[in-house]
Parts: sequence; C-alpha cells; structure tokens
Amino acid sequence: MIRSKLAEDARRLSRGLHTISTSGLSVLAGVLSNSDNTLTGTSEHHRRCFGETSTDLKVSWVSTQYRSFASLSELKADHVDPFLLVRQEIDSVSNRLRRCIMTDIPMLEKAAEYFFQEGKEGKRLRSTVSLLMATALAPHGPLPGQLKVDDSPASMHPTELRRRQQRIAEISELIHVASLLHDDVIDNSDSRRGLKALNSIFGNKVAILAGDFLLARASVSLAALHNSEVIALMSQILEHLVSGEILQMNSSEDDMLSMEHYMKKTFYKTASLIANSCKSVAVLAGCSHDEAMAAWRYGKHLGLAFQLVDDVLDFTSSQEELGKPVGNDVRSGLATAPVLFAAEEYPELIPMIRRRFRTLGDIDAAIPLILRSNGIQKATSLAEFHASEAAKALQDLPPSLGTEADDSRSALEIMTRKVTSRKK
Ligand code: FPP
Ligand code: MG
Repeated sequence: MIRSKLAEDARRLSRGLHTISTSGLSVLAGVLSNSDNTLTGTSEHHRRCFGETSTDLKVSWVSTQYRSFASLSELKADHVDPFLLVRQEIDSVSNRLRRCIMTDIPMLEKAAEYFFQEGKEGKRLRSTVSLLMATALAPHGPLPGQLKVDDSPASMHPTELRRRQQRIAEISELIHVASLLHDDVIDNSDSRRGLKALNSIFGNKVAILAGDFLLARASVSLAALHNSEVIALMSQILEHLVSGEILQMNSSEDDMLSMEHYMKKTFYKTASLIANSCKSVAVLAGCSHDEAMAAWRYGKHLGLAFQLVDDVLDFTSSQEELGKPVGNDVRSGLATAPVLFAAEEYPELIPMIRRRFRTLGDIDAAIPLILRSNGIQKATSLAEFHASEAAKALQDLPPSLGTEADDSRSALEIMTRKVTSRKK
C-alpha cells in the first residue's frame, strides 16, 4: 500500500510546479477552459493567439520556458504504478464487459468481443482513471465483494455507489472501442492493437454494426444508473467523438493551419471521453458542481496531454514500437501539433499543410523539416503543460476522506507524468 505521506509529497511538489506558467500558456488555457462542458474558442481568443488570420500561425505563445513536468524526479512516488493500483478491479470490469456483450447472434458476438479478448484490451486508461477518481473521492476503495465480477444484468440498477461507478468505467471502454471500430473503417486501417483491424476481417458493414452494438449495450448500462445528469454527460461524449471526427476530415485550408482548431478537435476526439467519465464518477459520488468540474478538468487536461504525446510519438517512435510508419499522421494528410509548430520555423510547410500533403513529394519534404524543427519539443512542452494542469485540478477535488483517497490522488497525479513520459 502506498503511504499517504507520498500523496502529501506529491501535492506539495505539484503546488510548487503549478505556480510556473507563462502568460502565453494561460492564453491557451483560456481557449480551452469552459464552464459548461462545451469547448468554444472565441474569435477574440483566436485573434489573441493567432493574429488576424490563422494562416499567420502565430503560435509562439507556447513557451518551453516553464519547468518540465518530467524533471520532477524528486517526486518520490515514482515507483507507484497507477494501473497496478486498480488492476484487480479493472480485471473484474473487463470480465463483466465480456459478459455484457454476449448475444445469440454468433457473428455479432465474435465481432463485438474482438477487442475485449484477454490481453487485447489495450491500456484501459479510461477505465483505470475512472476507478482511481472514484476512490479519490471516497472514504475507501472498493470493498472485497465489489472486486468480484458484477454479474447483475445491465438493465438492473446497481444499488451500491461503487458498482455504479464501475459502470462508468465499463461504459467508457465500450464507447472507446466502438469509436475505434468506426475509426478503422473511416481510416481503412488494417491493424489495431497488434491484431488485424475488425473491418479487415469482417468487412466495413459488420465493423460499423459491431460498434453500434457496443453503443447499444453501453446505453442500457447507462440508463440503469437512473441519473439523468450522468446519462447526459456520457451521451455528450458520443456527440463529441462524432464532431471531432468530422472536424478532422472536413477542415478548411485555414482550419488545417489553426492550432485552435487542432486543440478543439483533440478535445472532442480524445479528451471529452476521459473528462466526462471523470465528471460522471464525481456526480455519482454526490460531489458539488465545482468539485465535479475539477474532476472534469483533470480528465480534459489528461486527455489533451495524452493525445499531444501520441502526436509526438508519431514522429519519434519507430515503426516497430507504434505498428505504423513514422509520420503516419502526415501521410494521412493531418497536421498535428508538431507540424503546426514546425511551420512557424519553416513556412514552406504551410502550403503543404493546406493541401494535406497531397502533392507528390510533399511527405518526403515535410517529414525531415518537422524532425529538424523545434516542433516536437514544443508539442512535448504543451503536453507537459496540460499534464501539469491536470495535476493542478486534483487540488480542487473535495477534501480527501482518507489514506486510500490520498493514494488514488497520488496515482492520478503520477498518471499525468506517465502519460507524458510514455514511449508508445
Ligand atoms: C482514433 O483516431 C479515433 C478516435 C479517438 C475517435 C473516432 C470517432 C469516431 C469514428 C466517431 C464515431 C464514434 C462512435 C462512438 C461510434 P486516430 O485515427 O487519430 O487514431 P488511431 O491511430 O488510433 O486510429
Ligand atoms: Mg485511425
């Protein structure tokens, strides 16, 4: 068991860290802050960040001057693995998930269970964060009986709070996998999680329908929580995922050059799921609006940091580590944060970004420029900024109710660093 002293150390250190922020980064925080779960970048914000037109690419407000989160080696809780802390409970959620997607239609069951096979469940980041947040807000973690698989039917209301919060963990994974099934059809992908993509085995139609099926099962589980605020929060994730995907595929040339547009897309596609799952856990726990919004902010910033790192790894990881070629995003026509920052230094990237790297030779010309620029470092710094904002949000959670809550808060804080230091 982690000593709660570590939690105190972590909080003390993070308080020190969070005093360090540049004005430019505060502007970014302004662009992405909100009070009602919708992310709007106002034109005023836009002008402050980008000048009159987004093509100016005035993104120099991102500074690399603040202290790197990764340099907090003095944070003694380094050895704590947040995933390990909830491993047993996550395994039982995963087992329940496998039962919850059973159906008497063999092909549908085979397709639906594909990414829930043992060992193929992925990082389970979303469910892990949800359960850590649940304990962070509680007097204690799950009781021994609550670590056993919940075998009550999805439509039955769970009377215990922890069981209801486990449903959020379950629903977040169902939504995530459903979105990946759809995404692989859109991207015409042939692999995922070291397996063949489902669409490449069963075809696009079955892959889409399997995703819909997972969402249907998630909806029943969600309805059984009997909490309209939570139903609205978790449903909003679906709207955001779809909006993010459309924003990405249908951007204008100016949008393609806009960091604000990229961050908005990133919130919708990645951060909203974590943010709204964290908030749902807090709402179920009976937290006040402000406290639930702190949980939401944690999830939002963690999600943004996670995706920024993903976009950096697209350039810095090897094909073997990632399972896709270096610069895969650029090859797909996308301009992520490292590319947008690189275009500040190398304006010759701007026309290539505008035409989504479609002209012969664009990709071969762009990738070396991006690698030579400070784009990767700036995007990493931005990820670290969001990781530190996530850690900061933990301070606005309600007062801790005990050692296990402290330990989970430590683990959530450590998670912010794990996300930024990961290599794949
Ligand atoms: C991965 O993107 C995909 C997502 C994070 C979400 C995709 C969302 C949809 C397809 C909308 C439909 C949503 C639902 C819930 C059915 P990526 O292609 O950038 O990353 P990858 O390399 O993992 O494929
Ligand atoms: Mg994809």
